[in-house]
Amino acid sequence: MKSLYYLLLFILHLIINHTTAASQSIITTLPGYNDTLHFKLETGYIGVGENDEVQLFYYFIESESDPQKDPLVLWLTGGPGCSGFSGLVYEICLLAFDYATFDGSLPSLTINPYSWTKIANIIFIDSPVGTGFSYAATSQGYTSNDTESAKHNYAFLRKWLLNHPTFLKNRLYVVGDSYGGKITPMVALEIAKGLITPLASICWSMCSSISKEIVSSSFESSSESSSSAPSELPI
Ligand SMILES: *[C@@H]1O[C@H](CO)[C@@H](O)[C@H](O)[C@H]1NC(C)=O
Ligand SMILES: *[C@@H]1O[C@H](CO)[C@@H](O)[C@H](O)[C@H]1NC(C)=O
Repeated sequence: MKSLYYLLLFILHLIINHTTAASQSIITTLPGYNDTLHFKLETGYIGVGENDEVQLFYYFIESESDPQKDPLVLWLTGGPGCSGFSGLVYEICLLAFDYATFDGSLPSLTINPYSWTKIANIIFIDSPVGTGFSYAATSQGYTSNDTESAKHNYAFLRKWLLNHPTFLKNRLYVVGDSYGGKITPMVALEIAKGLITPLASICWSMCSSISKEIVSSSFESSSESSSSAPSELPI
């Protein structure tokens, strides 16, 4: 009986992996950077929304210390409409434009010694739909608002984790800067509702105390209802 259960679980796992199959590539060189990248950069698309009509693009950089133990950060750049790439080169990540050598041609990239990737795995997402390389397959798919965008980000994270199950056990932080501070608590609330990971933590740079209250109270009520935290995604 037990082996049948595991067999079914295994088949379900295969089906889910198949249906959440997303395009992803490991990037080893970048224009403007004169060497092979010494860190792991993955980019890809994950489909969300009805029939996956919204294709969200992401950059994922693995922690330079201990990817299996270090936290996983979902970084929401502001705008709305700033590419995750701006978070990557202007804010907290490894790469930065080299202004000193800029002569109007292809800008050079240098390494930022203060990158958060020294201690964290970071996903930079192009969100909402229409930002950066993210697109919709239908014109209606481009219609979005903050609520919809937060739901898309949550669906994205869920599928990303299913595609990268080794990160399911890492502590998770949802972080946003500027306008991202409005979306961050909403994504955190979706996570709290879905109990995507037991150790979810929230961090945001700018958001109202009301949002904070909503999020903390949902975490409290969800921890009341489940004394033992789930170690798997709810399917
Ligand atoms: C790449 O650029 C850096 C900084 O300008 C320089 O120190 C290094 O020698 C260059 N490496 C190669 C392989 O050209
Ligand atoms: C946001 O968009 C969704 C989906 O299009 C819609 O159902 C919802 O009413 C919108 N919310 C607001 C506040 O406009």
